[in-house]
Amino acid sequence: MVNHTVVLSIFVPLVFTSLITLVCDAIESGDESSKLYIVYMGSLPKGASYSPTSHHISLLQHVMDGSDIENRLVRSYKRSFNGFAAILNDQEREKLVRMRGVVSVFPNQDFHVQTTRSWDFVGLPHSFKRYQTIESDLVIGVIDSGIWPESKSFNDKGLGQIPIKWRGVCAGGSDFNCNKKIIGARFYGIGDVSARDELGHGTHTSSIVGGREVKGASFYGYAKGIARGGVPSSRIAAYKVCKESGLCTGVGILAAFDDAIDDGVDVITISICVPTFYDFLIDPIAIGSFHAMEKGILTVQGVGNSGPRPSTVCSVSPWLFSVAGTTIDRQFIAKLILGNGKTYIGKSINITPSNGTKFPIVVCNAKACSDDDDGITFSPEKCNSKDKKRVTGKLVLCGSRSGQKLASVSSAIGSILNVSYLGFETAFVTKKPTLTLESKNFVRVQHYTNSTKDPIAELLKSEIFHDIKAPKVVTFSSRGPNRYVPEIMKPDISAPGTEILAAYSPLASPSSDINDKRKFKYNILSGTSMACPHAAGVAAYVKSFHPDWSPAAIKSAIMTTATTMKGTYDDLAGEFAYGSGNINPQQALHPGLVYDITKQDYVKMLCNYGYGADKIKQISGDNSSCHGYPERSLVKDINYPAMVIPVHKHFNVKVHRTVTNVGFPNSTYKATLSHHDPKIKISVEPKFLSFKSLYEKQSFVIVVVGRVKSNQTVFSSSLVWSDGIHNVRSPIIVQILSL
Ligand SMILES: *[C@@H]1O[C@H](CO)[C@@H](O)[C@H](O)[C@H]1NC(C)=O
Ligand SMILES: *[C@@H]1O[C@H](CO)[C@@H](O)[C@H](O)[C@H]1NC(C)=O
Ligand SMILES: *[C@@H]1O[C@H](CO)[C@@H](O)[C@H](O)[C@H]1NC(C)=O
Ligand SMILES: *[C@@H]1O[C@H](CO)[C@@H](O)[C@H](O)[C@H]1NC(C)=O
Ligand SMILES: *[C@@H]1O[C@H](CO)[C@@H](O)[C@H](O)[C@H]1NC(C)=O
Ligand SMILES: *[C@@H]1O[C@H](CO)[C@@H](O)[C@H](O)[C@H]1NC(C)=O
Repeated sequence: MVNHTVVLSIFVPLVFTSLITLVCDAIESGDESSKLYIVYMGSLPKGASYSPTSHHISLLQHVMDGSDIENRLVRSYKRSFNGFAAILNDQEREKLVRMRGVVSVFPNQDFHVQTTRSWDFVGLPHSFKRYQTIESDLVIGVIDSGIWPESKSFNDKGLGQIPIKWRGVCAGGSDFNCNKKIIGARFYGIGDVSARDELGHGTHTSSIVGGREVKGASFYGYAKGIARGGVPSSRIAAYKVCKESGLCTGVGILAAFDDAIDDGVDVITISICVPTFYDFLIDPIAIGSFHAMEKGILTVQGVGNSGPRPSTVCSVSPWLFSVAGTTIDRQFIAKLILGNGKTYIGKSINITPSNGTKFPIVVCNAKACSDDDDGITFSPEKCNSKDKKRVTGKLVLCGSRSGQKLASVSSAIGSILNVSYLGFETAFVTKKPTLTLESKNFVRVQHYTNSTKDPIAELLKSEIFHDIKAPKVVTFSSRGPNRYVPEIMKPDISAPGTEILAAYSPLASPSSDINDKRKFKYNILSGTSMACPHAAGVAAYVKSFHPDWSPAAIKSAIMTTATTMKGTYDDLAGEFAYGSGNINPQQALHPGLVYDITKQDYVKMLCNYGYGADKIKQISGDNSSCHGYPERSLVKDINYPAMVIPVHKHFNVKVHRTVTNVGFPNSTYKATLSHHDPKIKISVEPKFLSFKSLYEKQSFVIVVVGRVKSNQTVFSSSLVWSDGIHNVRSPIIVQILSL
């Protein structure tokens, strides 16, 4: 009996929202050392005679020396790519690695799951032009925790017939009905019986990307308005890979890609990641999205909630569209009035009106509820009963999240916390009123509390604050640079990720706090999980205007037209925090030029990266394999719409790019380089690109020369190609590597 404990952390920051630990199902196996592995075998061989499952069984039989393979083959991947999941011991694994046709063998891993206002804020008001009929032929694949099919956000009123290209099924379980909005449902958890969402996460992300218009949606009257997704006429297919516990498995994620690609989805959104995968061939999301890209499907992934530490982005593949989270201009705040009359404003989603009473403040015992750093477990039994009694009827003042936990499990009125954990941009739904103060104000409240015998305070109900500084990258959003392939800029883009109102599952706790039994049809969540479906919505919107564009062209269109963001490398990490900028859906429809990338280009990049011809042939499934020797220095020449140039202190580097004209047939673009540091000279050759027809391609070279003596490590600049109407902008980041 092997216990596969898999923790899938959703991208909701693991503070107040996702206090969840998931324990995976035990998998029966006779061998103590056996584990669940994924065996990746690349593309499906062409030809009708090939039977993937027989091949998988024969491989297993071969490595198991005739022992019983029953119950060892857990799943075959055979619709969109080739591979299987099986329970193997070390010896069997070793043997399989060396078998012909096997690309990689890696353990099933623990994955982490990481709106009304937001769509107007980024400039996609509902009144804006849409191709309704084309939009309603688009299917968004949502790989997440399932969906709540009865939500008003997924009603199918007025939607036409299911697109004829659709090959998926409604296999959501016995209590799950699809309609013309939710046209597909599948689930993958071992022991799972339904695609119904028990976590709330999948319902939330699905409604951000494709929810119908729902008038009067709100959370206790807050954020009231018309809730809707980015592409309200599109169809949704739900692939449930995460359970109530928050557990998502690599085996299930890969199976969801295998199905979604062949079912015929147009865009995939996946707000899930593992922060530690830095090899394409052992990351189910990198593998699945590669095969999606082959079929013209763009996969959009959040970058994770491990910021602001550098190199924490979990989404590193060039064929993925990787999204950072930003604030929107609607912020939830609340006032705290102390006994001495002083008032402080903090972040809070507090729905409890004050009756004018000031309650005693009690300082927390930091050990009251032993606080784990990851914040995913919240065990009420860990909260000390003496402390619980001590805080009855009081406001708990606490530097750590212990205060919020203690308030939740006791008869405390609420808690007052220090910004420390996540930064100041985000308020969370909590069971008891919670106020987060900026550090300097927290110290002032501490000071007041220390200076008087009976400190008291009144916490008011939340108000909405219009934040003119938005959008700003949130502290928790994971940062680049790309630890695996530094030449590929990550994140690619940023999108709203804080305090987003969207549909929710009434089976789930609104605050991911098991003590919080309230039931909500709409809820406010924050995380790169929420940013991801915003970018997926824009991708689908662009696709509805340009159905024939490749995934890379759609991504390029959104990146080169993004609204530029402020923030330097020093204060925020610049482009390594926000990518090319904030999504700008209207501009993305008319990029003028796109940086297109074909499957062959990606294959070439993988060759130059050094993956080896045999593996690459297997992955690509065609003859587009490696030619010549791998040339690591050519990886930077992949036709990415952003340029990250890693160099040493002395450098003279050329970077090649090719743009495709999708603007006016007859047009001339002029290059402008933004001001950059005098220590580095950047030039572009030629300075003008003339086009005579649509889809014509033109190439250019960027030359970067410099000698950097200071210890500054990042120089950020940009290139804009403009024909006077279209401005095609790419960041150029020169990154000095230490020797
Ligand atoms: C306000 O609420 C508190 C706690 O619920 C209660 O003890 C108090 O009597 C109330 N005060 C007024 C003025 O209603
Ligand atoms: C409050 O949080 C800030 C920011 O993380 C930290 O620097 C400070 O030490 C904290 N103060 C207290 C009293 O916990
Ligand atoms: C208040 O008292 C606590 C505990 O005695 C101490 O840790 C803290 O530094 C004091 N803070 C201020 C601002 O006086
Ligand atoms: C690959 O090349 C071989 C030999 O040159 C040829 O027979 C085969 O048809 C090619 N396959 C594809 C998919 O192009
Ligand atoms: C293209 O532009 C040139 C210069 O403006 C103009 O002379 C020519 O007629 C244009 N050709 C077409 C096909 O529009
Ligand atoms: C290098 O960085 C340190 C810390 O940021 C700074 O104090 C120092 O002056 C820098 N040295 C140079 C040569 O710029």
